[in-house]
Amino acid sequence: MAINRRVLTLDEFTIQQMRSIPGATGELSGLLRDIGLAAKRVNVEVNKAGLVDILGDAGTTNVQGEEVKKLDIFANNQFMGVLRHGINCAGIGSEEMDDFVIFDDEISMNSKYVCMFDPLDGSANIDVNVSIGTIFSVFKRVTERGTPVTAADFLQPGNRQVAAGYVIYGSSTILVYATKRGVNGFTLDQSIGEFSLSHPDIQCPPTGKIYSVNHGHFFQYTPGVQDYIHACQAKNASNGGPYTQRYIGSMVSDVHRNLIKGGIFMYPAIKDKPGGKLRLMYECNPFAYIVEIAGGVATDGTQRILDIQPTGLHQRTPFYVGSKLMMEELNSYLTK
Ligand code: AHG
Ligand code: MN
Ligand code: MN
Repeated sequence: MAINRRVLTLDEFTIQQMRSIPGATGELSGLLRDIGLAAKRVNVEVNKAGLVDILGDAGTTNVQGEEVKKLDIFANNQFMGVLRHGINCAGIGSEEMDDFVIFDDEISMNSKYVCMFDPLDGSANIDVNVSIGTIFSVFKRVTERGTPVTAADFLQPGNRQVAAGYVIYGSSTILVYATKRGVNGFTLDQSIGEFSLSHPDIQCPPTGKIYSVNHGHFFQYTPGVQDYIHACQAKNASNGGPYTQRYIGSMVSDVHRNLIKGGIFMYPAIKDKPGGKLRLMYECNPFAYIVEIAGGVATDGTQRILDIQPTGLHQRTPFYVGSKLMMEELNSYLTK
């Protein structure tokens, strides 16, 4: 197969973007390159998960008391390792680690960014060959460079993110990232081992016909959420119903599909989980940022996700995200 030189790789694209910003230092490009490298390593392991003894539980529970799969730990170590040994990140927070980690060597302490990760999202799907992913969020530190990062650098509201993204290890492997300049997707070209620009300037369609929610929890949802679900099922749904229900159980795949095709994803509060299930800092904030940049909307049912002032690295929130008009319709039911 001839190599198409007109297709930019992730590195070429980020460097091109950097060159157009006066005064840019290239640190964000470097950080994204590091994340891309770790993602390629994780991709290799995900792809051979059925062949080697990496499947199954690691026999431990993560900091939220959930079962941890071996690949969660592998992925966590890859992202942490590549950023610790790189020169573009001063510390990370992760779903798999109780507390944030400070990179306290001279060079890392002088970096201006901190990152947060869900190293493997949807990991309950590993054993059954269903798409899983990685989610990340990047903030500029608020403490002085040259000093160790502190909780204040991590506990910033999502509206201060400078970049956010995700990787899906699926039928193909894709890395999507957003900055305030736009959302772009890069598919892993296995022939050259590089993420290559495949989805330039992603825009979330203003409406769609897909709603994604765990229907098993239906009777635990508030009347407003139940009414909205009924509206999605009705023949006279605003965009021509009934809509189609799609729920993979890997948010990264569910939200990616809805971002491309138009749709809404919901993880409301339920009786067992009154604060919701999904984590603000490394699941909801990054997706809220990406989807908003693409023209969509993300809320916790009452306010914009990106305006929530976080109090803890692992805090949870109800989450509603998707196409602008569908989110507006949902809101009319939630506020009735
Ligand atoms: P993780 O694997 O990182 O713990 O996240 C799983 C999340 C999310 O990806 C998915 O949408 C949701 O959990 C599914 O939860 P339910 O099985 O409760 O619907
Ligand atoms: Mn997750
Ligand atoms: Mn996870």
